[in-house]
Amino acid sequence: MNDHQLKELLNEMTLEEKTGQLMQLATPFFKGASDSGQITGPMQDMGINDKDIINAGSVLGASGAKEIKNIQKKYLESSRLNIPLLFMSDIVHGFKTIFPVPLAIGCSWDMELAEKSAEIAAKEAAVSGVHVSFAPMVDLSRDPRWGRVMESTGEDVFLNSTFARAFVRGFQGNLESDKYKVASCVKHFAAYGAPEGGRDYNTVDMSEWMLRESYLPAYKAALDEGCEMVMTAFNILNGIPSTGNKALMRDLLRKEWGFDGVLISDWGAVKELLPHGVAANEKEAAEQALKAGVDIEMMTSCYVNHLSELIEEGKITEDLLDEAVLRILTLKKKLGLFENPHRFANEEEEKEFILSSEHRAAARELASKSIVLLKNEKVLPLKKEKIALVGPFSMSTDILGPWSWAGAPEDTITLDQGMKNYVADLLTADGCDIETGSEKTLQEAVEKAKQADKIVVALGERSDMSGEAGSRADIRIPEVQVDLLKKIKELGKPVVAVLFNGRPLDIKEVMEHADAVVEAWYPGTEGGHALADILFGKVNPSAKLSMSFPYSVGQVPVYYNHYNTGRPKDAPDAQVRYVSQYLDAPNEALLPFGYGLSYSTFAYSTLEISAETMTKDEPLIISIEVKNTSGTAGEEIVQLYVRDLIGQVVRPLKELKDFQKIHLEAGETQQVNFTITEEQLRYIHPDMEYKSDAGEFEVFVGGNSQDVQSKRFTLID
Ligand code: BGC
Repeated sequence: MNDHQLKELLNEMTLEEKTGQLMQLATPFFKGASDSGQITGPMQDMGINDKDIINAGSVLGASGAKEIKNIQKKYLESSRLNIPLLFMSDIVHGFKTIFPVPLAIGCSWDMELAEKSAEIAAKEAAVSGVHVSFAPMVDLSRDPRWGRVMESTGEDVFLNSTFARAFVRGFQGNLESDKYKVASCVKHFAAYGAPEGGRDYNTVDMSEWMLRESYLPAYKAALDEGCEMVMTAFNILNGIPSTGNKALMRDLLRKEWGFDGVLISDWGAVKELLPHGVAANEKEAAEQALKAGVDIEMMTSCYVNHLSELIEEGKITEDLLDEAVLRILTLKKKLGLFENPHRFANEEEEKEFILSSEHRAAARELASKSIVLLKNEKVLPLKKEKIALVGPFSMSTDILGPWSWAGAPEDTITLDQGMKNYVADLLTADGCDIETGSEKTLQEAVEKAKQADKIVVALGERSDMSGEAGSRADIRIPEVQVDLLKKIKELGKPVVAVLFNGRPLDIKEVMEHADAVVEAWYPGTEGGHALADILFGKVNPSAKLSMSFPYSVGQVPVYYNHYNTGRPKDAPDAQVRYVSQYLDAPNEALLPFGYGLSYSTFAYSTLEISAETMTKDEPLIISIEVKNTSGTAGEEIVQLYVRDLIGQVVRPLKELKDFQKIHLEAGETQQVNFTITEEQLRYIHPDMEYKSDAGEFEVFVGGNSQDVQSKRFTLID
C-alpha cells in the first residue's frame, strides 16, 4: 500500500466508514458479545449498533495473540474495504514482565535500562498482538498528592525529557523496519500533572510561560524522537478542556510543532466536554473536539453519531474529517497492517518471549537500580544473620504498581521469597494489614522480631492508593503501620524499613524510627529478588530521587528548581519575619531531588572550570574528581545544575542540565567532565522566545541537588 493507494482508499469510503475509523471501543464490543446480549446495554447507551462496530477503526485494551487474531479475522470478513483494526493498550511499565513504576525508573537515571524496559515491553506486547502502547506518560508533576505521579519519571524537565526519548526509542525503534516494535503514544497533552490540590482530573491553570518552561518540553522531546501518537488530557487548561482546546492542539501541537501523527482523546474525554460545561450536547462536543484536532474518540460515540450530520449542515467540512481519517490510515500503513493485519501476533513466540529469563533479568536489574537508599545507620547491608521480616508488604504480591493489568501475582517475586534466597530461616509475619490491624497480629510480629538480630519492616500504600483516581490528601503511611514500626523499634534492635509506594510520602516518622530506610516504590515482577540483592549487598544501591520528598503535605508542591521570590529566607540581609517561609515547617523538602545513598562513600574534589567566560562557539568544560573513599565498588550519579543570575524573567535557583552515572571500584578516583554549551543556557523569554542572554551564571556540581559546589562564569555575545 503506497500513499496514492491510501488516498484512493479514502475516496472510496462512505461517510459512515470514515467516521467509524475515528471510533475506538474496548475489546468486549468486538467479541460478538452483543450476539449474546452481554454488551447490548452499553451499546444502547452509546447509541451505536453492530454496523458501527463493523466500521470501527481501533480497539482498546485487547491482548493475547489468539484473541486479537480472531477479532481481526472476523472483523476483516465483514469489513467492505478490508481496512484492518488497530489494537492499542496501556503498556506502561512492562506487559507481563512488569518493570518498576516509571517514577522508580526515574530514580535510576539510567537511559539504557529504561530504553531496554520499553523494548522488552514492546516485544511482549507485539507478539501478543498489540500495535500501539499508550505510553510514555510524561506529565511533569510536583504534587505527590496526585496519584499519577507514579506514572511519570518525576519533577524535572530535563530528566523527564531524556527519559521520554529513551522510552519512545525502546517502544518504536524503527517502527517500519524493526521487528517486535509498537507505536508509542505520549500522554496526556497537556499539563495533566498539575491539577489543583493534587486531585485527579481537577482544574489546571497556568501561564503560557510556565507551560512552555516546565510542562511542555517532555511531550516535545517524545515527538522529536518520532513518537507516532499523542493522547489528550482530561483537565481543562486555562479554562478550556484540553480535549476541545484548539489553541493547544491545532495551533501549538500541529502548526507550531508540526505534529502530523494521530491524536487520540483520553477515555471518554470528548463526551466529558458536557460535564465540563463547554458543550450543550454530544453533537457540540463532536464539533469542538474535531475542530480542535482530535482524530480518535476513545470509548464514547459523539463522532460516530454526529459527524455526518455536522458535515451535512456545513458546520464542519469533509476535508477536516478526511485529514483525521488519513492520519489513522497512514499509521495502519506504517505498521504494515494492510499487508499483514496480524503483524507480530504469534502464539508460539508469546510462549517463548513472555517472562523469559532474559526479560526477568532485565526487570531485576532495573528494579535494583531504581531502589533508593534513604537512610543507613550502619545497618545495611544485611549479613547472614537471624532476620525477621514483618509488615503488610513482607509477603505481598501487590508490588507491581498501578498500570500492570497484564502482570500476574503468581509470576511476582515477593520480598520474603527474595530474602529467603539469602537466609533460608527468615522469620515472617504481617503484623497488620495496610490500614487495619489487631493486637493479635501485632503481637505475632513482635514475637518473631524478638527472636531476630535485625528486623526488616515492609510498609507502604496499597497500589490502588495511587495511580489514576488515586489522589490522597494525607500522604503518610497509614497509622497502623507506623505503630507497628514503633513497636518493633522498642525492642532496641536494628530496624530496616522498606517502603512500597507510588508517590513521595511524608515519611518523617519512618525516618525517625528506622535505622535504615529503603525506598522500593513498586518494583515489579522481580521486585523481591531486586530488593534482596540490595538488602544483602549483592547490588550496591545507586538510585537518586527524581522527585522531592516533602517535609509535610502542607509544603506541597515542593520542588528543587523553584524561584527565589523577592524575600528569600536565606538572603544575607533577610529579616526574621517578613521573608518567604513557613512558621511551622522548613522551606526545604525532607529529602531533595537527586538524593540517594550508597554502601560506598564518595568524595568530590574542588570544582574546576576551563574559563571564566564562554561564547556560543566556545563552550566551557566543568571538571571534578570523584573518589570512592570506601572499600566497596559502587555507582555515583554526578549532577550538574545551572543558575542564570539575571534573566528577563525569573530563573530557577538551580536547573539540572546534565548528569553522569559513573562506576568506581573501591578506592578509585575518576575525573568527570561536563561541557556547558550556549544551548543549555536558553530559556523562555517574556515573548515566548527560547534563547539565552549574555550575562553571569552559576554552575553547580554534586551528588544531589543540595550538596553541591559552585563556580561562576559569564556568557558573552
Ligand atoms: C487514562 C489513560 C489511558 C486510558 C486507556 C484513561 O483513563 O487516563 O492514561 O491510556 O484510560 O486505558
